[in-house]
Amino acid sequence: MKSEEIRKLFLEFFEKRGHKIIPSSSLIPYDDPSVLLTTAGMQQFKKYFTREKDPNQDFGTQRTASIQKCFRTTDIEEIGDESHLTFFEMLGNFSFGPVGNDDPANFGPDGYFKKSAIYWAYEFIKSLGLEIDYVTVFGGQGEVPFDEESYKIWQELGFPENKILKRGREDNFWGPTGDEGPCGPTTEIYVDNLEIWNLVFNEYYQDKNGKLQKLQYPGVDTGMGFERLMKVLQKTPTIFETDLFENLRNILEKLVKKDDQRRKRIVFDHLRGSVFLVADGLYPSNLDRGYVLRRILRRLTLNLKFLEIELINLEELIKAVIDKYGQFYPELKKFDKIKNMIYEEVISFEKTLVSGLKEFERIIKGNEDDNILGEKIFFLYTSYGLPVEISKELLRQKQINWSEMAEKKFNELFKKHQQISKG
Ligand code: GLY
Repeated sequence: MKSEEIRKLFLEFFEKRGHKIIPSSSLIPYDDPSVLLTTAGMQQFKKYFTREKDPNQDFGTQRTASIQKCFRTTDIEEIGDESHLTFFEMLGNFSFGPVGNDDPANFGPDGYFKKSAIYWAYEFIKSLGLEIDYVTVFGGQGEVPFDEESYKIWQELGFPENKILKRGREDNFWGPTGDEGPCGPTTEIYVDNLEIWNLVFNEYYQDKNGKLQKLQYPGVDTGMGFERLMKVLQKTPTIFETDLFENLRNILEKLVKKDDQRRKRIVFDHLRGSVFLVADGLYPSNLDRGYVLRRILRRLTLNLKFLEIELINLEELIKAVIDKYGQFYPELKKFDKIKNMIYEEVISFEKTLVSGLKEFERIIKGNEDDNILGEKIFFLYTSYGLPVEISKELLRQKQINWSEMAEKKFNELFKKHQQISKG
């Protein structure tokens, strides 16, 4: 089954069960200053969980479902391995309290809780022909008790004890996004040893000081990683062979002569992510979210260069992303605007990169002491404009260690430099 079909099946499944289908919100959150970018499906619904907004008034139901564009920056350094992504999509169903009749046979529009959420997740996964390996539930930690209710529901569904694992706060408690917000214990579903679906029971509100308070009404917030789901459905070695990357992969394979999986995955991820960010109105800058975009475009440029792909080919690669996703995300249908903005940034960075790389090769020997290495990377930054994260990537590639001491030296010089620049 192709991803297009799975999108449809997911939304139809929940629509039939009383959920209003809500389009993805922008990657740039419009009324949530606590986060730079949208990182989860629940973000656009935060105020319904807290009842600052009334779901019945806005949606005519207490149930919604969506396929949300998400962008997470925490893992940027990991991109290139088999599983990390910055941009991804999340399939989710949501319920805002108060809870009505929590019976999976009740198709709405009242709020539901653990029983319906778990039964439906189980039913939907089965309907795709997948087998659940095991599930996890919150085992209890600190002030938050063991989630016995979820445990019993999984037992009711026929799961033996050794397939319902209890986990602590680190693994099975989700949220909040940003500094504060709704959060709660989770139950998570594993298929082929991959966590594919996270069912969050939002029972708490965590404030800026990390203090938990019970929400007036509990809610449900689920998130199923689309790329992961497609990987287990299409039985591909990694997420990058799923049909979500098919167009892009076909073009890149044609252009590239080297078999460097890591660099190709960086290109897949950063290119797709930057197309979506630009389509949502972001432009590269040195500030906050603009810098996220700048950073991934620079890294994209570097990796295209190492793969010996001419920048002119970006046009075809951008088009491949738009062809795959444009029918679901109409904001992508601004090819010229997206292409021009990406081009402008990568071409201007390429100039810096060419001279910076040359100097890097000339001065970095790999046997210098940590302080000297910190000084040299600082020199490349101030005199050649080579960003430190790009230098770090080049060091990694040459297997030269960037130690804490080198980082300290760099930061010390950087601070001094900033003070001088400020006068
Ligand atoms: N909001 C649930 C998740 O991101 O996994």
